[in-house]
Amino acid sequence: MWSVPALSFLALAHSAYVRAVPVCSSASAAVATTWYTGWHAQYMPLEGVSWDKYSSISYAFAMTTPDPSVILLQDSDKDILRNLVEMAHQNNVAALLTVGGWTGSRYFSTAVGSAENRTQFARALLDMVDKYNLDGIDIDWEYPNKQGLGCNIISNQDTPNFLSFLRELRSTDEGRNMTVSTATSIVPFASPNGTPTTDVSPFAEVLDYVTLMNYDVFGTWSAAVGPNAPLDDTCAPPQYQQGSAVSAISAWTTAGFPANKIVLGVGSYGHSYFVSQDNAFADATQSAAQASETTLLAAYPPFDASLQPLGDSWDAVEPASTDACGNPTAGGPSGIFNFRGLIEKGLLAEDGTPAAGMGFRFDNCSQTPYVYSPQTSTMVSYDDAQSFAAKGQFIQQSGLLGFAMWEAAGDYEDMLLDAISDGMSIGGDSCSMSLNGVI
Ligand SMILES: *[C@@H]1O[C@H](CO)[C@@H](O)[C@H](O)[C@H]1NC(C)=O
Ligand SMILES: *[C@@H]1O[C@H](CO)[C@@H](O)[C@H](O)[C@H]1NC(C)=O
Ligand SMILES: *[C@@H]1O[C@H](CO)[C@@H](O)[C@H](O)[C@H]1NC(C)=O
Repeated sequence: MWSVPALSFLALAHSAYVRAVPVCSSASAAVATTWYTGWHAQYMPLEGVSWDKYSSISYAFAMTTPDPSVILLQDSDKDILRNLVEMAHQNNVAALLTVGGWTGSRYFSTAVGSAENRTQFARALLDMVDKYNLDGIDIDWEYPNKQGLGCNIISNQDTPNFLSFLRELRSTDEGRNMTVSTATSIVPFASPNGTPTTDVSPFAEVLDYVTLMNYDVFGTWSAAVGPNAPLDDTCAPPQYQQGSAVSAISAWTTAGFPANKIVLGVGSYGHSYFVSQDNAFADATQSAAQASETTLLAAYPPFDASLQPLGDSWDAVEPASTDACGNPTAGGPSGIFNFRGLIEKGLLAEDGTPAAGMGFRFDNCSQTPYVYSPQTSTMVSYDDAQSFAAKGQFIQQSGLLGFAMWEAAGDYEDMLLDAISDGMSIGGDSCSMSLNGVI
């Protein structure tokens, strides 16, 4: 015989599971999120994710296709995504799917290019949400009316079409209820004439938040070694003011996007450069005066792009080939060092500080460090715990919504994650987190 108390207990448990109701609501709801990539799942199994430190987690990537009604997810991704959603919900963490990315953004333009296509594309996303029991969609379009990969379809109407599409997505009950975010550039979406849109406030009405991808500001395409993810650049020499969290927030809020709907994208990785010893170190008097056990590095040194170092163990020397667009590529390594990879390769010690024998410099303006191995002439600009702590404080002081870390697997023993959470004063308290966009 069913007793009445047993029935109501079951009904309660069921609704709590399905709707992922927050444990408590709070005015200081924060987004503490990360991307979990299918291609690094082997290095960070889902069991290794620090679920209690995130409010949501987004799976990367699903890709656009020539058909707006078809969103591509590889078979291997489908399995991981199902497991991710299940484990996220067991941990009261919202599960999102990121659509697009560098190689998956080719067909956003046509997917939102006409009323008919927008309807089909919205339906396709909602079907994904339904099929995988997702709490939302993160749209990583790189970039509206601006070339990324090299063969993306682009149109000068991309930004207005994107807005029309988001309105359509939100016009349904399911679309209204889920989290909709977009990961984008540190400058506002390009307007029809190619310049940054001066008023992006209508986007704030249809997005839960925008994530500003403040990384890859400098890389091996740059003229000199510079910070991957500067907190500030207004204090840098003029020729090196190429973007930062400070300038990104200024650009977006000046264009009418509210700070409390901005999530700061942060990187758990850095770029490496081949820098000769002659160029690597600051002058002898300076290093003698300021260096302790490490030797002070020069600011913005030149590097030899033809001698790209190999990054950490996830990097590989790719053979000359063709890229996703069919264009020939020279091959070679990416040179990416994840934070964990800097420790693994011995540039940093287990505690995340520079290993013995390495050159080091912490740049006060960008609040990011550089480490240099004289043996391999490899310099890496990256983020450490101090950088993440400074970014966390900036998020709190600027009234931003939170952070999104690319990518979950890059951290080492949560050093970066804990530092940014502490900087924001959120810690492991799930009361301060919102689920399903419900605050
Ligand atoms: C709509 O989608 C179709 C593909 O199904 C594409 O050929 C067409 O160009 C799209 N329309 C626009 C205006 O982008
Ligand atoms: C959306 O949320 C409202 C209020 O929480 C709920 O009544 C409604 O059933 C939800 N709709 C869908 C399609 O989930
Ligand atoms: C950089 O910051 C440190 C710590 O806040 C401070 O001691 C140092 O004087 C600063 N250096 C410069 C050049 O501003």
